[in-house]
Amino acid sequence: MPIALLKRMLRIGTAPGAESRRFRNYHIVRIIHEGEKAFVYQARSAKDDRLYAIKAYKPSYHRTARRMFKRYRLRHEGEVGMTLNPPPGIPEADYPIVRTISFDREFGNPDGCLYIVLEYVDGFSVKRMVGCAHPLLRARRLDIARSLARALTIMHDRGFVHRDLCSDNVLVMKEGPVKLIDLGFAAPGGIAFEEKSGTPSYMSPEQCAGRPVNPASDLYSLGIVLFELFTGRLPFTSSIPADNPKLAARRVSELMQHHLHAKPPSPSEFAADLPPGLDGLILRCLEKNPERRPPTARHVMNELFQMEDSPPPDAHEPAP
Ligand SMILES: Nc1ncnc2c1ncn2[C@@H]1O[C@H](COP(=O)(O)OP(=O)(O)OP(=O)(O)O)[C@@H](O)[C@H]1O
Ligand SMILES: [Mg+2]
Repeated sequence: MPIALLKRMLRIGTAPGAESRRFRNYHIVRIIHEGEKAFVYQARSAKDDRLYAIKAYKPSYHRTARRMFKRYRLRHEGEVGMTLNPPPGIPEADYPIVRTISFDREFGNPDGCLYIVLEYVDGFSVKRMVGCAHPLLRARRLDIARSLARALTIMHDRGFVHRDLCSDNVLVMKEGPVKLIDLGFAAPGGIAFEEKSGTPSYMSPEQCAGRPVNPASDLYSLGIVLFELFTGRLPFTSSIPADNPKLAARRVSELMQHHLHAKPPSPSEFAADLPPGLDGLILRCLEKNPERRPPTARHVMNELFQMEDSPPPDAHEPAP
């Protein structure tokens, strides 16, 4: 028997493609995302014939014993997700945090990798929408901002800090609220088993300095996401390209220096058509000193609800 086939039957050392994974009653439809550590699959449940998303570590990643902390993180993500699920009476469709259905161990894999089953979100991340100048973006931007501030309000009210808010972790559907995802770094009160957290372009000065993180740190990251959402660019960028792994550490350190010391530009320098008041709100979120940021996510949400979006620039032009 060919070795590859034997290995596959034993489910060891095989490339972790969709066909080599088994998730109880879920039939894998396609791979949505392949990251450094995890796959996210679209899967159909044999129980109710609905689509779900399954996030599972790559077996190769899971096996590495020195990554025990990281191995624990997926279980943590499942547990935090269950805690943050919509309360009774609030439908999934109205709730801005991804719903966690269950988490379990994989069948048929000797390492027994963990996986979590999530509500399937049929949409794009804010990062992708900004990157492709998605046609819905201009019309929905204030709505997206409000919904994201609402997601953080819910998280903070329940005592959690997200610790990795970035535009990749916010999914937008055609309609309805945004869905905040990737809860693996979320920690009650910001106190975490694993101190390192965040995505370099979005990290608060206190995260960069290795100081304790609190809800205000999420508000800084929110300020960066709002900056990106309304201007199409980040306030701080690095001169070192992101696709060069040899220079990754230098790039991260350059970005951290910006978060720690550089004055952020005003969003209005890059976009003339911002809702009145938004420039100031974003700059307050980006204050270096957490105490100078808005007091809570709810304050940010309320300010966003009081704003009206300005018409797109071409709306001022007289009809031909
Ligand atoms: N519930 C979901 N429904 C639909 N797509 C999802 C869902 N969860 C995640 N995704 C897709 O998978 C991508 C990665 O998910 P997530 O942010 O949870 O993983 P990650 O921890 O950042 O992975 P890695 O660090 O390995 O890249 C998302 O940007 C999104 O495109
Ligand atoms: Mg992510």
